[in-house]
Amino acid sequence: MKKTPLLILGSTGSIGRQTLEVVQAHPDRFEVLGLSACGQMDRLREQIQAFHPRVVAIGTSVDAKRLQKEFPQLTVFSGEDALCQLAAWSPPKTETTARVVVVMALAGAIGIEPVFHAMAAGHDIALATKEVLVVAGALIQKQAKLYGVRILPIDSEHSAIAQCLGGHDLSTVKRLILTASGGPFRDWPREKLQSVTVDAALKHPNWSMGKKITIDSATMMNKGLEVIEAHWLFALPASQIEVVIHPQSIVHSMVEFVDGAVIAQLGTPDMKLPIQYALNGQHRWAVPWPTLDFRKKHRLDFEPVDTRRFPCLALAYSALHTGGSMPLVLNAANEVAVSLFLEQKMTFLDIPRLVEKVMNEHTPVPVDSLSIIRELDLWAREEAQRHMVVA
Ligand SMILES: NC(=O)c1ccc[n+]([C@@H]2O[C@H](COP(=O)([O-])OP(=O)(O)OC[C@H]3O[C@@H](n4cnc5c(N)ncnc54)[C@H](OP(=O)(O)O)[C@@H]3O)[C@@H](O)[C@H]2O)c1
Repeated sequence: MKKTPLLILGSTGSIGRQTLEVVQAHPDRFEVLGLSACGQMDRLREQIQAFHPRVVAIGTSVDAKRLQKEFPQLTVFSGEDALCQLAAWSPPKTETTARVVVVMALAGAIGIEPVFHAMAAGHDIALATKEVLVVAGALIQKQAKLYGVRILPIDSEHSAIAQCLGGHDLSTVKRLILTASGGPFRDWPREKLQSVTVDAALKHPNWSMGKKITIDSATMMNKGLEVIEAHWLFALPASQIEVVIHPQSIVHSMVEFVDGAVIAQLGTPDMKLPIQYALNGQHRWAVPWPTLDFRKKHRLDFEPVDTRRFPCLALAYSALHTGGSMPLVLNAANEVAVSLFLEQKMTFLDIPRLVEKVMNEHTPVPVDSLSIIRELDLWAREEAQRHMVVA
């Protein structure tokens, strides 16, 4: 059997590192062609030594020169186009390999252009970076059809839904039910949320993840982005995508069918399962790590979301209902708001306020080209910065 060649964008991050653990568990099935890093150069060096990629992408030409000296066989891309060059890289035509899979594990809208380059090169996409579909879902699905490539979800909720659907016709689906842990402030009253510190918001009860998604989980914007992601992955309207709080993070999501049957996918809170399921083209392989142990006692609680305390979720639904470029604007404003909160320049409750202000300034248009994405993304980021200064 041919090994699946992987290009891992964001290999030094939480999803990137867990992807490499999956590769380590199945060394005869995967081959790492490419890796990328931004700040964590030492970690990238260790990954190069362990996985022997042929190509890497990094931020600066200074780092590129150093790396080239240390690893003379390696092709090193740096600068603005580095991630797109990596995403589109293919082995020489004389080598017959299986189809390349690009693991998109960058945090945020920075992942969008590399995904377009990867699809144009005929690579399948294993997608962790939900922001890509939030911003450019219609265009991505159109291009995926055009180039005949697959978008395979890594997000645990969407992987769970794909597993629950199990080939059932979408017309038999009543609703998708995304589960949410509720984050560290699930039980906090609204008044207390005003005093949330960065340290407290970075402590997720069940998952260990990058900073941006951890803050999004605390505000529940993460679940809002996932609702929009589910809309583009499964072609269902907002009215058929619901969110329920499930603090134990054992049920990763559910599908209710028209006859009332609810199919759920359960597992430990470990991203390696959905990563492996995406990388192997949605097949089942045995795993060496611990799985759910039903000899122990488990609770499964479900409760509704209070959008008054977590308005980000309502903002995301509103953006999806409005359509066009509104989810793009929601995402860009949120990325700025999260950065400002992490820099302690505004409070936790300012995050939804700032996002809403920028959305209110925007008249949506269709998102039908990369140039419109670039233009509106920049506009929304500048508006968010401007409102923050005014606030
Ligand atoms: N973590 C999870 O469990 C999880 C679960 C579901 C979905 N996701 C989604 O997966 C994506 C990645 O999340 P994560 O938690 O893995 O994030 P993360 O730990 O912050 O990792 C982000 C990766 O992107 C790189 N990066 C950051 N800024 C960059 C830039 N300007 N240019 C080039 N590379 C850059 C980082 O490089 P350096 O580290 O070298 O700076 C790192 O490799 C997000 O969209 C998230 O929503 C994550």
